[in-house]
Amino acid sequence: MLALPGFRDFYPEECARRNYVVEVWRAVARRYGFVEFDGPTLEAGELYRKKNEEGAEILDQLYSFRDRGGRELALRPEMTPTLARMVAAREKHYRKPMKWFCVSNFFRHERQQKGRLREFLQFNADLIGESSPEADAETVALAIDLLRGFGFGVEDFVVRLSDRGAWREFLASRGCDAAGAALVLACADKLEREPAEKLDEKLAPTGLAVGDLREFIAAGSPGAFAPVLSALEARGLSGFVEPDLSIVRGLAYYTGVVFEVFDRSKSLRALAGGGRYDGLIGGLSDGAADLPAIGFGMGDVVLGHLIDATPAADARRRAACMSSCGIYVVIADEARRADALRVVQEIRDLGWRVDFPLKPAKVGRQFQDAEAAGAARAVLIGAEWPELKIKTLATRTEEVCERSALAGVLGKP
Ligand code: HAM
Repeated sequence: MLALPGFRDFYPEECARRNYVVEVWRAVARRYGFVEFDGPTLEAGELYRKKNEEGAEILDQLYSFRDRGGRELALRPEMTPTLARMVAAREKHYRKPMKWFCVSNFFRHERQQKGRLREFLQFNADLIGESSPEADAETVALAIDLLRGFGFGVEDFVVRLSDRGAWREFLASRGCDAAGAALVLACADKLEREPAEKLDEKLAPTGLAVGDLREFIAAGSPGAFAPVLSALEARGLSGFVEPDLSIVRGLAYYTGVVFEVFDRSKSLRALAGGGRYDGLIGGLSDGAADLPAIGFGMGDVVLGHLIDATPAADARRRAACMSSCGIYVVIADEARRADALRVVQEIRDLGWRVDFPLKPAKVGRQFQDAEAAGAARAVLIGAEWPELKIKTLATRTEEVCERSALAGVLGKP
């Protein structure tokens, strides 16, 4: 039996690759002063229905069901509503701005396509309680540095920066009300993915057409987010960013700066996306905790495809995923098994990763197992006890040492 479509098994190799990605995410987020949090996998369906229009993509993709009490529950499709709920409930406990990140699994009933799964891992970083362009720039800079952490450079990816504020002004000038504006933004989000005729049909009630949207995008000035661009320039990161008003984002709650990160060859879906959502936390606390916020999510799936396709990033991952240099204890004389176990225990206590044969085996076989396990050295225990041999597997060199001197010769990992 296989895993469900869109769901993944993580065999040890895949787990090692996943752990590598998570370690880079965590290390870079901490460098930016973000602290980790998490929430529950299941939420009340209402949490997602509250802020989204009927028919919103994220609602169509919800894995939801009724529990025994008849309550509608949903597997989390994203973190932002959970974060907003948690912050709204307890924001007074935390100094502002709050810089929170998480690495969690999410579930969306997506159509099968490259870069999209039904369960995926997503890193989220959110900066809460600060509305300045400096906060926007800090968030975008983190997205850039996360990718640099995997070995990518300006030639590999680009952050496309936009502003829903500019869209709102444009739509107000064209007489769109809030519902009309939401409809136009939903269509603008699909300009690159859906045929123009189909979008024109959807846009009809607003009196606008695809041509009008394209015209606005082409004429777009980066006026609204110029301070964000200059803060990124001051950090030496402007080469990673391009103003682009065609980015509007699919989720309903964004209010200001929005951005998505793409590979330069544009052959993959977005690596990450996010933006400012100043009304969401207030909305979930009936205005009690009206905090501005900005954040983004970066998934592991598209990122994995880009690492696969980029030799330098792939080499870095391979090096990180290689088993750390361990020690294999070869038991050449079964009469010495009890002594060998003592040695295993002692060098594990030193912090080494140690393996040994669980049942009698030929010495040749044990050396093969040592190499397969990725051990750098083998400690051979045989008839010469209490004298031991330490073999360096790569160079096939060996040295002899007394059992009592072993810890000193091996050193600490
Ligand atoms: P999102 O654009 O829906 O934003 O997702 C962010 C990233 O998660 C995407 O760019 C993609 O890499 C990954 N992703 C999303 N769906 C899937 C999927 N089905 N399979 C694989 N990867 C996927 C959000 O989720 C917002 N909540 C981000 C945010 C945080 N905004 C503010 N704070």
